[in-house]
Amino acid sequence: MGLGTVRRTVLVTGAAGFLGSHLCDRLLAEGFEVVGLDNLMTGDLINLDAAGRHPHFHFEIGDVREKLPVYAELVFNFACPASPIHYQHDPYATLTTSVLGAQRLIEMARGRNCTIVHASTSEVYGDPLVHPQPESYWGNVNPIGERSCYDEGKRCAETLLHDAYRRWRVDARIVRIFNTYGPRMAFDDGRVVSSFITQALMGQPLTVFGDGAQSRSFCYVDDLVEGLLRVATVSPFEGPVNLGNPGELTIKDLATLVLELTGATTPIAWRGLPVDDPRKRKPDITKARRLLKFEPEVDIRDGLVRTITNFRERLAAMANQRQRGVQFAPAISLDRQPLRDLASVLPEYVEHVRSCGDAYRTGERMTAAERMIVVSESLGNLHNTLVLALNDAPTNAELRAVDDQLCALLAELGQAQADQDGVRIADLLEHETLPLLARCRAECPA
Ligand SMILES: NC(=O)c1ccc[n+]([C@@H]2O[C@H](COP(=O)([O-])OP(=O)(O)OC[C@H]3O[C@@H](n4cnc5c(N)ncnc54)[C@H](O)[C@@H]3O)[C@@H](O)[C@H]2O)c1
Repeated sequence: MGLGTVRRTVLVTGAAGFLGSHLCDRLLAEGFEVVGLDNLMTGDLINLDAAGRHPHFHFEIGDVREKLPVYAELVFNFACPASPIHYQHDPYATLTTSVLGAQRLIEMARGRNCTIVHASTSEVYGDPLVHPQPESYWGNVNPIGERSCYDEGKRCAETLLHDAYRRWRVDARIVRIFNTYGPRMAFDDGRVVSSFITQALMGQPLTVFGDGAQSRSFCYVDDLVEGLLRVATVSPFEGPVNLGNPGELTIKDLATLVLELTGATTPIAWRGLPVDDPRKRKPDITKARRLLKFEPEVDIRDGLVRTITNFRERLAAMANQRQRGVQFAPAISLDRQPLRDLASVLPEYVEHVRSCGDAYRTGERMTAAERMIVVSESLGNLHNTLVLALNDAPTNAELRAVDDQLCALLAELGQAQADQDGVRIADLLEHETLPLLARCRAECPA
């Protein structure tokens, strides 16, 4: 990729996720200035471990549905939970992330020299009646089913982006991504590749839904990222375009392959098919071949071996952390607590954040990366919880109690943390959370 003398700035939304983090690594290797944005709904900062040490990487905790904090001439929009377990957990957040996120990006790009590469999905084809699926196929999607928040959200985002192109010539490039797998997938996301590998490595039965005859096509992450970069640079672009690997195999065959490659001898546990689960899925990549000269190179065996190696290492690291008593999840979940409860649990919460700081400072129980995850996830949760709790019309006194405790925490972070993570966390508190509280207090009765 030609760079000239000035580094181009790229914004990657959903940067802490599986695909977003691989994309950030590749963009940094290509010489871009990369800004990652993520609200950590399903992402994990540990995915950005390598990127975070790069001098041209910048990370913002933020939501793609809100006004964007930066302008970039190239945007990869990857923010959205992608696995059924994750997206069904909060359907409202899933749909609004797709639709409002697309709207925000259009507002940013309109009238400017900005390219948006948008991660759409093969799920826009639903349970397809055409096989394999070319871009011209309109799909077979249930608008009110359990998967609709994802499928219809992605379809609506495509409509918005395409209209922005038609009306205002916004350079919006829609990519329909088919099942992609690789290192860094979450262990518990319920996607078939990650589930099989985790189960095999932990000596548990492999869960197969239905009779296992349903088929999928799996693309290795490096191949996908190569395709995405080509989408960003090709001229002219004719979207939407499918990206994936057309090699098809049944779920039962995948289970057998994972057992062989992990050396596991666990049995298969058969379960009923989930609602609206597509029977077949295979990309027609004729257009990507013609337009982008795209050709997936990593075969499924090779890709699975690389993924299994990564899962093994991460599981071993987790076992090691457990032995050392490192606690990753915040001690208390603040998710959706009413504010009056929040004020009473906050001291315990602050104590947890503080003890993570202590564990880190003594250098015995926690590495810098581990501490950053605990503390920033905790504060990210706290911020989101406040936003939700503020809808319950709290009193000024309740808000003041939270405010006082947060100020105390901020003062402590300021004193104790000379490191960059402490500064980032203090920034979030000082510039996002406390002003939010102040605005709410101004509107509340005394
Ligand atoms: N992995 C695949 O096989 C696949 C297939 C088709 C499409 N996609 C699309 O690619 C994108 C990334 O998928 P993934 O597999 O990396 O999933 P992921 O869940 O690992 O990553 C999604 C990231 O987006 C973040 N996010 C969610 N809502 C957000 C919001 N409102 N604001 C900011 N950040 C937010 C999450 O915290 C997470 O880090 C998604 O848009 C997904 O729909 C993925």
